[in-house]
Amino acid sequence: MTDLKEVFEARRSVNFFDKQKGLDEQVLQNIINLATLAPSAFNLQPWQIIAVKTDEAKKRLYPLASNQPKILDAPVTLIIIGDRAGYEKDNPAWSDLEKMLGNKEALEKTQQFAYALYGTTPERKIKFAESNAGLLAASIMYAAKYFGVESHAMSGIDFEGIHKEFKLGTDKEVVMLIALGYFDESKTLYPRRFRKNFKDMVQVV
Ligand SMILES: Cc1cc2nc3c(=O)[nH]c(=O)nc-3n(C[C@H](O)[C@H](O)[C@H](O)COP(=O)(O)O)c2cc1C
Repeated sequence: MTDLKEVFEARRSVNFFDKQKGLDEQVLQNIINLATLAPSAFNLQPWQIIAVKTDEAKKRLYPLASNQPKILDAPVTLIIIGDRAGYEKDNPAWSDLEKMLGNKEALEKTQQFAYALYGTTPERKIKFAESNAGLLAASIMYAAKYFGVESHAMSGIDFEGIHKEFKLGTDKEVVMLIALGYFDESKTLYPRRFRKNFKDMVQVV
C-alpha cells in the first residue's frame, strides 16, 4: 500500500492477531526506520523502544497489560518509551545541530532554550517525552500499514509495573504499547467507529 490516503483509511486497531504468522526482523526494522522520520522538538527524538518478541518477555508483559490477548498473540509488541531528559547535552542530536548551526555559542543558546521549555518542571518533562513519543507511535502504526503489517496501540496498561519489570531508567516514561503482526482472517473486526469531524472539533478564530 503506497498511497498515503489509502494507508490512513486502511489502518485499524486489529484486535485479533494471527498466532501462526511471525514478523520478519527486516520488516520490523523497515517499519521503525521509516517511522523515525517523525517530527520531534528540536529533532531531539526523545524516545526509545523495547521490542517484546520472546515468549518469556511476552509472559512478563501480559499481566501488566491487563491480560490483553494481543500481547501473547501478536508476534511483537513494542514498548514505546519517552525520555523526560531527552533535551540534555548528551543527546547526539545536539552535535548534529551544532554542525548545522556552525558554532558552539548558537548551540548553547538553543540548548538553554530547550531546557527552559522542557526541563524546568516535572509537567514539562512529561509533556516533552509523551508528545514526541506519541508522534513516533502514530508514525509506527502508519509505517506498519505501509509495509502490510497491522497494529494495535494499548494504554490500558500498568505503566509503573512495565517500567519496573523492564528495568527502565528514572527519566524514562512508558508511553504506550503497540502490538504488530497480521490479522487473524478467521475473525471479524468491528466496523470503523464514529469520528469527530472538522465542524465538531475545530474552532476557527
Ligand atoms: C494511545 C492509545 C491507547 C489505546 N489503548 C487500547 C487498549 O489498551 N486496549 C484496546 O483494546 N484498545 C486500545 N486502543 C485502541 C482504540 O480503542 C482504537 O484506536 C479506537 O477505538 C479507534 O479504532 P481504530 O484504531 O480501529 O480506528 C488504544 C488506542 C490508542 C491510540
